[in-house]
Amino acid sequence: MILFVGLGKKSEFDLNKLRIVSSKVCQNAVNKKGINSIAFYASDLDMDLVAASRNILEGVIIATYKFDKYKSDKKENEKITKLYIVVPDENINLRSINEAILIASAVNNARNLINEPAEVLTPSVLANLAQNIKGLETKVYNAAQCKDMGMGAFLAVGQGSRHEPQFIHMKYIPQTEKKATIAIVGKGITFDSGGLDIKPPASMLDMKGDMAGAAAVLSIMELLPSIMPQVEVHGIIAACENMPDAASYKPGDVLVAMNGKTIEVDNTDAEGRLTLADALCFAENLKPDVIIDIATLTGACCVALGKIASGLLGNNEDLLKNLKTKASEVGEYLWEMPMFEEYFDDLKSDIADFKNAGSRYGGTSAAALFLNKFVENTPWAHIDIAGTSILNKPLREYTKGPTGVGVRTILNYIKNF
Ligand code: BES
Ligand code: MN
Ligand code: ZN
Repeated sequence: MILFVGLGKKSEFDLNKLRIVSSKVCQNAVNKKGINSIAFYASDLDMDLVAASRNILEGVIIATYKFDKYKSDKKENEKITKLYIVVPDENINLRSINEAILIASAVNNARNLINEPAEVLTPSVLANLAQNIKGLETKVYNAAQCKDMGMGAFLAVGQGSRHEPQFIHMKYIPQTEKKATIAIVGKGITFDSGGLDIKPPASMLDMKGDMAGAAAVLSIMELLPSIMPQVEVHGIIAACENMPDAASYKPGDVLVAMNGKTIEVDNTDAEGRLTLADALCFAENLKPDVIIDIATLTGACCVALGKIASGLLGNNEDLLKNLKTKASEVGEYLWEMPMFEEYFDDLKSDIADFKNAGSRYGGTSAAALFLNKFVENTPWAHIDIAGTSILNKPLREYTKGPTGVGVRTILNYIKNF
């Protein structure tokens, strides 16, 4: 069968469009027409053919993602078994092509982790996955060790769970001389019930996915030994579960974070920033040149930007500008949100240095200003993926469900540092 697909105006056609078109072609062919073998005749495309091939592959691998681990009927006939991309000989750069496959697979790996039920993907399971990655130096700290490090904010969040909190530190060291050191921090709440400030049922449904930031960080770290960037990268995840229990932390509690700052608990459902507080302190102690955190942090971000774009905030204009470029190159959408100091007024506390939550208004900015109290003077960017990490309907090359957002942007940033 030959499918003719309209590509729109030639002047408006680019790599991002090519990737999305390829993804739609495959989804339709596989799901609606039962086709398993597809060839893209790309030779005549008026663009860099290696980049074109990379984008076709990425689109296809991301678009045909399925999580059927728990399905009895795995619908093997709805999978692509053969994919051909036809380009002239001289355009084949197998290393680059292979890298695109690896990156798309890392995106899907993050989606797998997000799809796993919270009772399967517990903090210690996440820690074991990190420890089993070859080519990295990984150290996992248990609750007692985190206490010794002074991580009072992180530990409070996990104290109502049957699952012990695990602080995960992965390190990739390049073989050749390093250009810089980057720390990436992922929010790793394996389930967010809200804690004693429990969420209503509808809001709790997707909360096994409150570790989407951690999933991105782990998948990125796993890839580094194969793509061998010339930067040292630290992957940091404070993994725990936020549950209501007799042992839970409570509204009104005062927590002491790793940097000595005291936090009054206003709302136990604003737990992500508490875990990130200690993770950011830990990250900065490693003296990196840059810190990037990625987190399903605020429902407010989803209200503001919908499921189309992730929120971007931070303390360094150059870094934010660079990340926006890196995101647009790979077809991920980042949108900058303000860091006006006034948003922090809502977090003033009568008895501690500040509170973990305040008003519903400007929630994404307030949360980022909170995080900023745990970064002294390192260029830092915060990516809020509360809206973009899980889709309720297909978007661009993504299917409904987890997206693995952030993996491609951060990898693009690391690779081209
Ligand atoms: N994990 C949630 C944020 C979230 C909401 C992620 C929807 C994905 C989809 C976060 O821990 C949370 O509960 N935030 C609260 C903060 C509030 C209590 C200040 C929120 O957004 O309502
Ligand atoms: Mn929460
Ligand atoms: Zn959360």
